[in-house]
Amino acid sequence: MNKWSLESIGVVALGCRLNCLDPNLPEDSPVKKLIQCVHDLFAIQEFETKTKTDDEKGILEKLLEINEDFAYIMASDMLFAGVDTAANSITGALYLLAKNPDKQNKLREEVLSDPDKRPYLRACMREAIRMMPIVSGNMRLTTKEYNIMGYKIPSGLQVAFGHQDMSLMDEHFPRAKEFLPERWMADKDDPLYYRNAHPFAYNPFGFGARSCIARMVENFQVEWFGEPPKVVQTSLNYIKGPYNFILKDVKK
Ligand code: HEM
Repeated sequence: MNKWSLESIGVVALGCRLNCLDPNLPEDSPVKKLIQCVHDLFAIQEFETKTKTDDEKGILEKLLEINEDFAYIMASDMLFAGVDTAANSITGALYLLAKNPDKQNKLREEVLSDPDKRPYLRACMREAIRMMPIVSGNMRLTTKEYNIMGYKIPSGLQVAFGHQDMSLMDEHFPRAKEFLPERWMADKDDPLYYRNAHPFAYNPFGFGARSCIARMVENFQVEWFGEPPKVVQTSLNYIKGPYNFILKDVKK
């Protein structure tokens, strides 16, 4: 998963394929080393700026032309912030789809029928990230004193906003423990309608000027066997192995 998300970030950020998924990468190849660096938590990718049109250039190539320092900071930020988050979110989505084969079938039908519009795929990802967010909350440092409903909050205090708990509350998301991608597509008069929830009850990408720069992840017949995965909570919620997925050919 991490190799897949690293590959995807390479395409978005650098505008080229890194070939992380190549099983025959030599041990001393740059990509192999990069994968190792990401495993070690932090990596800065060197990349070539080729002659390309603006449309073909990745975000970092464009940024490099404006300010080289910013481009390197952004490269390390994207690798640091993008790999584990995307890989873990997809792992969670695959697990929930594996445990809900009816939703998985519905999703497959959509993916096979219309290559352009995929509202159910988007709904599945939103629902998966609601139920199994990699980030349980956001931190902010107050820059002035606040008085919120009688609670005095001084300046210079670190405030943690735990949206994960809210997103699992029935009062915000009815039948909150159930994987119901339909809630993200429901009409206003449907009790599942997601906008009935408090606007901050679902916040997996943060908010404001420092919110996540990436908001979309995509795509699979997958089943799960055995016990649910363990989620270890550190600063991030890591879904730990073993990853009991079974990938099967889809019979058309
Ligand atoms: C489903 C996958 C992802 C999730 C759930 C996620 C979640 C988050 C969260 C919660 C934040 C903090 C926002 C805040 O404090 O308000 C964040 C920041 C950030 N994310 Fe993501 N992220 C994901 C994927 C990615 C990817 C793929 C990239 C890079 C290509 C990325 C790049 C960043 C960067 C650079 C920041 C820092 C933004 C800033 O400080 O201005 N994220 N992400």
